[in-house]
Amino acid sequence: MRAAFFHRYGDSDVLEYGDIDRPAPGPGEVLVKVAGTSFNPVDAGIRGGYLSDVFPIVFPHVPGIDVAGTIEELGDDVSGWQVGDAVVGLLPMVGRGAAAEYVVAPAESLAAAPTSVPLADSAALPTVALTAWQALFEVAGVTAGQTVLINGAGGAVGGYAIQLAKQAGAEVTATAKAGAAERLRGHGADHLIDYLDYTATPVAEGAPFDVVLNLIGTTAEETDALAGLVADGGHYVGTMTSGPGQRVFVRSDAAQLADLVSRVDAGLLTIDVADRRPLAEIAAVHADADAGRLPGKTILTPA
Ligand SMILES: NC(=O)c1ccc[n+]([C@@H]2O[C@H](COP(=O)([O-])OP(=O)(O)OC[C@H]3O[C@@H](n4cnc5c(N)ncnc54)[C@H](OP(=O)(O)O)[C@@H]3O)[C@@H](O)[C@H]2O)c1
Repeated sequence: MRAAFFHRYGDSDVLEYGDIDRPAPGPGEVLVKVAGTSFNPVDAGIRGGYLSDVFPIVFPHVPGIDVAGTIEELGDDVSGWQVGDAVVGLLPMVGRGAAAEYVVAPAESLAAAPTSVPLADSAALPTVALTAWQALFEVAGVTAGQTVLINGAGGAVGGYAIQLAKQAGAEVTATAKAGAAERLRGHGADHLIDYLDYTATPVAEGAPFDVVLNLIGTTAEETDALAGLVADGGHYVGTMTSGPGQRVFVRSDAAQLADLVSRVDAGLLTIDVADRRPLAEIAAVHADADAGRLPGKTILTPA
């Protein structure tokens, strides 16, 4: 089968596109014919070798932790799924990923795909929407009437975080570039702060907040300043930085993913897709990401 893979850590040019063996599902697993995967920043971190302690991969490694596709084959001991079912999932970080024509997935990690969007586009959902969900509700326990600051809301996690926090009844302040304002207001952001208007820390309009969700890498000083915007008894949650408060580490959760899918099909949750590229162009997508030229979520589709 055609797949993207790399044999060593390095820049985007370590990524090759060629033929490798099609995997076979083991017990509890299914083989998925991939309609799409999506680029996540962690893909570049794994490829660059920066995360080798946390995610020890085996070479050659096929990237792509998000999958959308149809079930092609069932392994032993799989119940609840049929060949031909359309599914989405967040795959294990260290296994062979979905940047390929086929991928093996743990059956228990999958949810039925949304029916209201193209199947490949739904690969923009699992990792980042689960991150937003787990940060807001599992770590911070956001409830109706609370105030939430989302720092770095212009990206993929931020788009879902705004929508989910609003649906939970929170008042949402988001930092993003002015160009993202219309989209983020459409997602329900009550207040927008252009991050180009300040140098280190978001201006504290609206502070203190019950919850501060920080979605970007910040220095220790910036992180402390953000954590300082949290009200007594509130929560600081980061996706990137250690320090004060808590850090979320996304994990696969089929029930949460099924809930997110149902919101998509009910018209409550919008999947933002910035670009769609053939899987053969994956090295260029990684290069764009490394250069900070990848605006929003990019879907990669096998030929
Ligand atoms: N811990 C976990 O489990 C976990 C899970 C998922 C993601 N993450 C991490 O969380 C981060 C966000 O993920 P993502 O998928 O949403 O990434 P993304 O789509 O690349 O979004 C990042 C956003 O941050 C914005 N940004 C950059 N500097 C900023 C600043 N100073 N102030 C405000 N916004 C700023 C960027 O805005 P512009 O477009 O304007 O440059 C971009 O919209 C990534 O670093 C990712 O690796 C962690």
